[in-house]
Amino acid sequence: MNKIRPPRVTFHQLRTLEAVVRLGSITRAAAELHLTQPTVSAQIHELQSALDTALVEPVGRGIRPTEAAQLLRATALDMFARWQRFEEDLQALHGLERGRLRIAGVTTTEYFIARWLRRYTDSHPGIDIELAVDNRDAVVRRLQQDDIELAVMMMPPDNLPLHRVPLMRNPLVLIGPAGHPWAGAHRVARTALNGQALLMREPGSGTRLATEAYLHTHGLTPTVRATLGSNEAIKHAVAAGLGLAVVSRHALAADPAHDGVALLPVVGFPIERRWLLVWRSDRRLSLAAQRFVEHVRAHPPDEPDTAAAAGA
Ligand code: PGA
Repeated sequence: MNKIRPPRVTFHQLRTLEAVVRLGSITRAAAELHLTQPTVSAQIHELQSALDTALVEPVGRGIRPTEAAQLLRATALDMFARWQRFEEDLQALHGLERGRLRIAGVTTTEYFIARWLRRYTDSHPGIDIELAVDNRDAVVRRLQQDDIELAVMMMPPDNLPLHRVPLMRNPLVLIGPAGHPWAGAHRVARTALNGQALLMREPGSGTRLATEAYLHTHGLTPTVRATLGSNEAIKHAVAAGLGLAVVSRHALAADPAHDGVALLPVVGFPIERRWLLVWRSDRRLSLAAQRFVEHVRAHPPDEPDTAAAAGA
């Protein structure tokens, strides 16, 4: 071992010394460590001989730790802290072999997240993936309750300390039934939306939040005809002529006609949003999750084709 000399003392002795110095008493240290007093005294004597230094001195009927003992205690605490980090890393290492990645994605991510996770599992075959797909508010709750470590969403909450890695674009498009008269137009004024029947996702949906923010900003007042709990239900209802809706471009086929819908070129659409990979900055990520973040940084998910995404 090059220049580092292994210590001539043991962790047991150091643990005892730490308690003796902290408590200022052999008797109390023995009680705390569940040892006999002679054992504690013997360990202190062994330390003193190994270091050739006095560690305790008699005072009245008790003892007082010397300055050298204080120094040794501080050194021992550093070593214990270092050892603890080693044990955590070791646990994480085992965790990576048999570990679990707990991740949640907002509803629209179901169109790509499996493909995306697949690349990670290819390089980390020992990791189980626990994937939850839910609307935005439910994903936020999972983060708050530590049910998951990582989340993919476009509108992270402001009330949690989060690390954020931007992922791909998430254009939100306005759709109507295939053959809708606006579909062939070059551009349709925003105000044409006033009085139109609109289908909305359920409260708690990020898509709904973004749509409401758009309508509010421009003072538009469509009529909300129905609230539906999924992108698929929205698409079917739009195709059936129940109303117009705002959905992620990722929720539609490359040719939206395959879904029985058309992109409507109303000014302001698509609403340009972006998905983010987020995790709590006040939590230590498991090794499985750390590796996933590294993986995403090294292999960012593909951007959708810009023209198709915009519906141009
Ligand atoms: P949603 O999420 O499924 O809740 O509408 C959309 C998003 O945040 O990307």
